[in-house]
Amino acid sequence: MSFFSGKVVIVTGGTDGIGKAMVNKLVNDGAKVVTCGRNYDKLYQLQTLYAGQTLLAVPADISNESDCKNLIEQGRNVFGHIDILINNAGISMRALFSETELDTIRRLMDINFWGSVYCTKYALPDILKNKGTVAAVSSIAGYRGLPGRSGYSASKFALQGWMEALRTELLHTGVNVMWVCPGYTKSNIRNVALNKNTQPQGESPLDENSLMSADECAIHILKAVEKRKRTLVLTPKGKETILLNRVAPDMADKMIYKFFFKNGELIK
Ligand SMILES: NC(=O)c1ccc[n+]([C@@H]2O[C@H](COP(=O)([O-])OP(=O)(O)OC[C@H]3O[C@@H](n4cnc5c(N)ncnc54)[C@H](OP(=O)(O)O)[C@@H]3O)[C@@H](O)[C@H]2O)c1
Repeated sequence: MSFFSGKVVIVTGGTDGIGKAMVNKLVNDGAKVVTCGRNYDKLYQLQTLYAGQTLLAVPADISNESDCKNLIEQGRNVFGHIDILINNAGISMRALFSETELDTIRRLMDINFWGSVYCTKYALPDILKNKGTVAAVSSIAGYRGLPGRSGYSASKFALQGWMEALRTELLHTGVNVMWVCPGYTKSNIRNVALNKNTQPQGESPLDENSLMSADECAIHILKAVEKRKRTLVLTPKGKETILLNRVAPDMADKMIYKFFFKNGELIK
């Protein structure tokens, strides 16, 4: 029997990419799954796909506190309690800070940081009672700031700092607080990443087909949740970047600049 069988798991942002892959796996593993997103058509498709199974797809914009409260309350009302919260929903950006509207940075913080804080605040009483898990999908950008992604990096640093503090506060409660950092994973995130005008850029600068699949990423994340890991960095490149930044930050600046820029232009 799967570890997740019968458990109530909330995954934010389950209508696309990594979140959708986690929802698929969790439903197939017999979990009672609650998820959300902002796009009604995608939520409807997901709910229809799993008609008669234990999935609840709720419209919610996690940058809105009352949407998060409603999401958690609906999950609790329908399934009775909450065991695991996976703060997955997130957006990215691609624009140099000097050219970026401040609204772009604000949106990143509102969704990636505040969205996780709101959902956790409302789910925590149940998770404490059940000695469950609060997890987040973070990024290498939560360990090392990345150019063109200043707001994204800030939101993931904030997320990880806040989670580390929460983890320590809850150390003797039986609750596991953890975060996972995928590397580049095939998803919709780069297509909808905000540009300098706070609009979706509408393209990916990467060859998406060459990246880790969302299904593989989901398997790693759920395994880490099951094993109650502290953190997990999913790719060797990610581990290398974090290590290099720790031991030789000046060299990391140069190497990361070289990776992201060509002739002074941001190319990724
Ligand atoms: N893909 C990668 O290369 C990669 C690498 C490292 C970390 N990550 C992290 O992985 C997580 C998932 O990203 P992904 O790559 O799977 O992206 P994705 O394919 O764009 O999926 C994002 C999901 O989050 C939802 N979402 C976005 N903003 C939301 C909001 N304000 N309220 C509610 N739901 C919202 C989206 O639905 P709607 O847009 O319909 O709301 C969608 O279901 C993110 O936290 C991201 O930072 C991704």
